[in-house]
Amino acid sequence: MENFAGGTAEPETEPDAARVEVLALPLPVAELHLHIEGTLQPELIFALAERNGIKLPYAGLDELRERYEFTDLQSFLDLYYANMAVLQTEQDFADMTRAYLERAAVAGVRHAEIMMDPQAHLSRGISLETCVNGVASVLATSHEDFGISTLLIAAFLRDLPEESALEVLDGLLAMDAPIAAVGLDSAEVGNPPSKFERLYDRAREAGLRLTAHAGEEGPASYIVEALDILGVERIDHGIRCMEDPDLVERLVDARIPLTVCPLSNVRLRAVDTLADHPLPAMLAAGLNVSVNSDDPAYFGGYVDDNFAQLGAVFELSDFDKARLAANSIHSSFASEERKAELLDELNGREVPHP
Ligand code: HPA
Ligand code: ZN
Repeated sequence: MENFAGGTAEPETEPDAARVEVLALPLPVAELHLHIEGTLQPELIFALAERNGIKLPYAGLDELRERYEFTDLQSFLDLYYANMAVLQTEQDFADMTRAYLERAAVAGVRHAEIMMDPQAHLSRGISLETCVNGVASVLATSHEDFGISTLLIAAFLRDLPEESALEVLDGLLAMDAPIAAVGLDSAEVGNPPSKFERLYDRAREAGLRLTAHAGEEGPASYIVEALDILGVERIDHGIRCMEDPDLVERLVDARIPLTVCPLSNVRLRAVDTLADHPLPAMLAAGLNVSVNSDDPAYFGGYVDDNFAQLGAVFELSDFDKARLAANSIHSSFASEERKAELLDELNGREVPHP
């Protein structure tokens, strides 16, 4: 293997000190698994509530922060949806998006594929135009303003009927919303990918890229369904693939990207502790994994925090970290030109070549 752009070979050498210093800077990465509504920090929640005259059910920041103790995915989703009440105007959506991009730039993010949940806003009486245009207005100049190329993913709530998702997708297409892909999120167990076959058929016909959450809390068979029935190109989370060796072999052979979110998995108790996270085993198995923040305001960190905490627990080699960064770039829906630019930037860091 000539460099990290290949992203698949095993490390054979240890880095020298000078190179380690270079690596102290965050590596340039693509963030592929990020819910924009999950970037709403407590301070911004209170600021937007005040601006919009909304009374929050928390006396202050500390009381809100005390709620950030989750027992499972649903306990998080309850708070995540409740806090969206403060998002009322295009300006609110724009401010939230700008705050994420500012922080992501510090974390080394050079390309971001940002999910938003239109149904969670429509159900509160907020129009598609308000939520989409608010986020998109900031994404339109994200490269110039923050050095981060971006694209928007419309994520559909799997605990709602497929009819609702189809209606919203039609609405997005009718308004010519600047979406590049569709995703599937919210409560996984009991809502298998097969429920959304028609949605993904329609999205594919519309020329959209396809991804879906699978194998976070749900079983490995949901990953198989997402691949076989929905025809997704990428799996969000996917950690439970490790329970099915045949599936692991298939994912390795097909180089299917898995957008892993370690701190999220700990906070939502998909794993007991970070030390129990399967990421090192996934890397060792040759899976195409990347590191992402999911809902950074709720799970204790952005991409750089995920890397730092992983590094502290597992002592990942610099080669492993660079491979994770390269995987994220290869697995993105960015243009080939943008990917080449980012891989050049990564290789320019002179991380150790085997
Ligand atoms: N899983 C499922 N749905 C979500 C998540 C998640 O981690 N974050 C926001 N919606
Ligand atoms: Zn997610």
